[in-house]
Amino acid sequence: MWGGRFAEPTDALVERFTASVDFDQRLALYDIQGSIAHAEMLAAGGVLSGGELRKIRSGLSRIQRDVEAGRFRWDPALEDVHMNIEARLTEIAGEAGKKLHTGRSRNDQVATDVRLFLRERIDGIDALLTDLMAALADRAEQHTETVMPGFTHLQPAQPVTFGHHLMAWFEMASRDRDRLRDCRRRLNLSPLGSAALAGTTFPIDRAMTATSLGFDGPTNNSLDAVSDRDFLIEFVSVASMAMMHLSRWCEEMVLWMSQQFGFIHLPDAYCTGSSIMPQKKNPDVPEIVRGKAARVMGHLSGLLVLMKGQPLAYNRDNQEDKEALFDSADTLADCLAVITEIVRAMEPDAEAMRGAAEEGFGTATDLADYLVVRGVPFRDAHEIVGQAVAHAIERGLTLSQLALDTYRGLSPQIDEDVYEVLTLEGSISARDHVGGTAPSAVRAAIRAARERIDATE
Ligand code: ARG
Repeated sequence: MWGGRFAEPTDALVERFTASVDFDQRLALYDIQGSIAHAEMLAAGGVLSGGELRKIRSGLSRIQRDVEAGRFRWDPALEDVHMNIEARLTEIAGEAGKKLHTGRSRNDQVATDVRLFLRERIDGIDALLTDLMAALADRAEQHTETVMPGFTHLQPAQPVTFGHHLMAWFEMASRDRDRLRDCRRRLNLSPLGSAALAGTTFPIDRAMTATSLGFDGPTNNSLDAVSDRDFLIEFVSVASMAMMHLSRWCEEMVLWMSQQFGFIHLPDAYCTGSSIMPQKKNPDVPEIVRGKAARVMGHLSGLLVLMKGQPLAYNRDNQEDKEALFDSADTLADCLAVITEIVRAMEPDAEAMRGAAEEGFGTATDLADYLVVRGVPFRDAHEIVGQAVAHAIERGLTLSQLALDTYRGLSPQIDEDVYEVLTLEGSISARDHVGGTAPSAVRAAIRAARERIDATE
């Protein structure tokens, strides 16, 4: 395969060891796209004749049809996707096929293929994140008044609404989509023309290939373009962040589904049982998503380490970038799709949520704020409310069940109207400001969110 310089064939083990076609055949259609753009540019510059271009084009379309139909015969002896396609093209198109590689190297070719692949995957993931955002906003809208305990340190802290909680998830997903779009902007440049590392002596038109492949323009430096994979590492970093968010939500769903919380039910279709314990209904899907986050994060660190020791320009180490990239994109896409279904399917148990909110002394801060409004310094109010909570715990009561006499014994500033701030609804609706949990504030947040869902920038 390497022509004149080599005196003996490649060792069988080395051949198997260096081959990447088993996995990089996933790039085939992008490779063909890039080759067509390159050949058209060569023909426009007079490097290929019109007849040669026609043969290359029709040969590549035939290969494309074979790949799409699953009949293309991949040969590991031809190492990678690029050599397999070029060899087949030469079988079909003869001399013209041999001319395709003029002014090009597999180094700028693979860098182009990977960018084209990733750009398409990013667009698909963008759409999945958009679906997820829509699902969260829809569910939040149904639950702007559904009270649940909000937690800090996983201890009940203050009442919030389920809608508010879901809109917190929405914000995370929205930032993930922003980061993804930012990553896309940076990667959308064409390495074609960088050739092996230094550019080429042929009269190429890099702007033309960039435009025909939908890139915003050519990359600025040939050494950089064939070697750095930061665009791909950036994607896996964005993917890791998104998986981190999904994993946190899944952790919450696992807790909420537990008998101890009982905040949500998942339809049987999203759960699995135990092979030994007949009573079990397990939250396996959220658990697996939580587990898959580890896998994507592992790819991120693998890719960073892969890159960190490489001098300019292209090094074969980079062949190892593909499986990590493919798997990260596949994993993220699957997890987004399954979580969106779960968000749409989960059934919150409003009574259980409310019961838990009532038990947790969640309106203690409201009582302190009430005292502050009546002139008690916040630190003193904190102390008084602490005593009220201690009384309630001692008698097995909630704050709204404590008698007015008890309250007045703690502070003469407390009147009958205290019971209004001790209710869950009072506590929630008092937080009526941008970003707060009051139903009106959450409804406003959802209205604003609806516009962001459809935004394309
Ligand atoms: N399979 C290689 C990769 O994935 C393609 C580029 C090979 N270039 C080379 N000079 N050996 O990076």
